[in-house]
Amino acid sequence: MKNKLIEEFGRVYGNNNGVEVYFAPGRVNLIGEHTDYNGGHVFPCALTVGTYAAVKKRDDRVLRFYSMNFPDSGVVETSLDDMRPKNDDSYTAYPKGVIWAFTEKGYDIPSGFDMLIYGDIPNGSGLSSSASFEVLTGVILRDMFGINVTNTEIALLGQYSENNYNGMNCGIMDQFASAMGKKDNAIFLDTATLNFEYAPVKLENASIVVTNSKVKHSLVDSAYNTRRSECETALMELKTVLDIKTLGDLSKEEFEANVSAIKDPVRVKRARHAVYENIRTVDAINALKKGDINTFGKLMIDSHTSLRDDYEVSCEEIDILVEEALKIDGVIGSRITGGGFGGCTVSIVLNDSIEEFKDKVSRAYTEKTGIVPEIYVVSVGDGPSKL
Ligand code: GLA
Repeated sequence: MKNKLIEEFGRVYGNNNGVEVYFAPGRVNLIGEHTDYNGGHVFPCALTVGTYAAVKKRDDRVLRFYSMNFPDSGVVETSLDDMRPKNDDSYTAYPKGVIWAFTEKGYDIPSGFDMLIYGDIPNGSGLSSSASFEVLTGVILRDMFGINVTNTEIALLGQYSENNYNGMNCGIMDQFASAMGKKDNAIFLDTATLNFEYAPVKLENASIVVTNSKVKHSLVDSAYNTRRSECETALMELKTVLDIKTLGDLSKEEFEANVSAIKDPVRVKRARHAVYENIRTVDAINALKKGDINTFGKLMIDSHTSLRDDYEVSCEEIDILVEEALKIDGVIGSRITGGGFGGCTVSIVLNDSIEEFKDKVSRAYTEKTGIVPEIYVVSVGDGPSKL
């Protein structure tokens, strides 16, 4: 991959002397969905797919981008002096947003660079291609300009850029999972404190299977931002009767005893999901630590039901994938993963049943939707690296 990118860099920009190549991974979240902006827990892991870039520093203020995924866009040229939040909808908004975030936070970016990008995460699949691109840019800026930032700080800068440059009010999960990934481990992260622990993904005779529905319904970002503000309002209402900082502070009993403080039935559903999903996530990691993957799988299924009915971020296609998966005996758990409204499901499947899964889920999904899904057995990879 490294040589291919260096060669392509030379073809696009004319010269590849001194080019460096970097990688940052995408992620899949096993459980703990829509909890990361509610002070709850998440349990994602980094993937071995992600975003690559070949880069070379310039001595002026010009920035040039070329994506092998969007060759028709050609070389996109801009300047360090032209960073305008929310004004740019091409893929360059991600690296530009991170450069902007670094300068907003007081780090000096003294010169521009040429960048060639290649991503092997399907776009819109909910496996965090954007977060991987942000973390990748952060790591490159750190190396290129000798900036003293940790991987956690790079994750926070990525989130800051996504929130303030791209207008997507995401939590910290995706950038954190990409920046802090560890091979064969998932990350049990408390998003209220950023304390985390690695947990080996020991599934014995089972694997993590990701199924891409190949649909991404529009308005994802606006629906996401609406969910977030509904939870914020519900929290304010609960704070009138409870001394809490986040929805993640609540037990089920405290929530149910005080739920009447929330004055709107839709907000009750949203808050109920946030509270119960956080508790499910803590229970799930405890089950995994004991090697009890059946309980882990059951909690994944409950997570999907809650995301479908209370949080209302699933969609017909994803529900079909989960339903069809659960018809197979060797499927231990299955749920939507990521922000929602399409994208992927994540399932835990016994190794002996993977072929059956691929065959049956794929056939039934295509019969019902006309779409051929993509199904991959996932490997859990490391965080960002220089190749
Ligand atoms: C998106 C966001 C994350 C998280 C998930 C839902 O991936 O970027 O911060 O909120 O949705 O769990």
